[in-house]
Amino acid sequence: MELNRRTVIAGTAAAGLATTLGTGSAQAGTGSGGRKPVRELFGTLADGTKVYRWSLENGGTRLKVLSYGGIVQTLELPDRHGRYANVVAGFDDIADYVAKSPYFGALIGRYGNRIGKGQFTLDGTSYQLSVNDGVNSLHGGAKGFDKHVWDVEPFTEGSDVGLHLHYTSVDGEMGYPGTLRTTVTYTLTRHGDWRIDYAATTDKATVVNLTSHVYWNLAGEGSGTIEDHELTIAASRYTPTDSGLIPTGELAEVAGTPFDFRHAKPVGRDIRAGHEQQVQAKGYDHNWVLDKGITARPEHIATLRDPRSGRTLKIATDQPGLQFYSGNFLDGTLTGTGGRTYRQGDALCLETQHFPDSPNHAEFPSTVLRPGQTYRTSTLHTFGA
Ligand code: GLA
Repeated sequence: MELNRRTVIAGTAAAGLATTLGTGSAQAGTGSGGRKPVRELFGTLADGTKVYRWSLENGGTRLKVLSYGGIVQTLELPDRHGRYANVVAGFDDIADYVAKSPYFGALIGRYGNRIGKGQFTLDGTSYQLSVNDGVNSLHGGAKGFDKHVWDVEPFTEGSDVGLHLHYTSVDGEMGYPGTLRTTVTYTLTRHGDWRIDYAATTDKATVVNLTSHVYWNLAGEGSGTIEDHELTIAASRYTPTDSGLIPTGELAEVAGTPFDFRHAKPVGRDIRAGHEQQVQAKGYDHNWVLDKGITARPEHIATLRDPRSGRTLKIATDQPGLQFYSGNFLDGTLTGTGGRTYRQGDALCLETQHFPDSPNHAEFPSTVLRPGQTYRTSTLHTFGA
């Protein structure tokens, strides 16, 4: 966490107060090593499976993660005065996650975003996936990785704390070939940064594109629109889509369009520009083609800043794409952890990924994983105020 001197002092004081009140820990704001993650029962699924919630804290960041979907339920950060707020959308109740979550905070697999008609051909064999978004397959199909209970293994390593989350998807699940063994590691560093490391292996050739579907509002969950958040995306091109939000294959220039976020710009500035791509998607719901391409290590690709609170989020990834979704489908019918409803644009997603529908676009970077290979990608979230 990048904090100025005044904030560090204020943040430590605020954390001390929270400890007295029994809601926080002495670790917050100190930048010292974290303590062991703590587990509590969060709820029970209809079939009797217990869902646990893990609390992690390190370097001034507080994170609560569910074993269901690897969901980040809450993520609390100090503002420039050291005042904490939960900056991600979520629910209080497991039943809401099961019944109606638009992927709040969840791990997405096997394939982040859409595959056209839920079909692809690999090595001469055609596969039909579970279709759950009109005629297309979205975020892994009807029961994606967001709707499974993961095995969670807590760890403390040096000054880091974290969780290893394991899920094995059997051959043919949601139509995908191969048994896919996935481990996702969430790490909170002593600086309060949140890192995600994804790993997967398969026993048959398959396609994989894992991501995280956190909905951010740096002013605080339920506090209103994200249209005044300033966003920067290091991308000169994006992938325009058809009306079903499937990429046409074109890599269009952002220059001179509302899609140009190469310099910090309030999300709302051009959101009503009436560009046909925005009209179709009801806002931004597109994949940006990151200028850096695929890299061996995570590189900085996006910055989100809330001018009111001063909170900032910087994202680094090794992936070639970023799906920026401006919360277009939030319609005032879901009530979040703070008791307030979420309306359109009350939170936004920045999903690091390979491009949507890559299995049907030979010209896009490949998402094929073969036996003997290990899928590995990492995304780092750095917070400041
Ligand atoms: C992704 C998609 C959106 C929408 C959300 C979830 O970001 O691109 O179209 O489906 O997930 O509502």
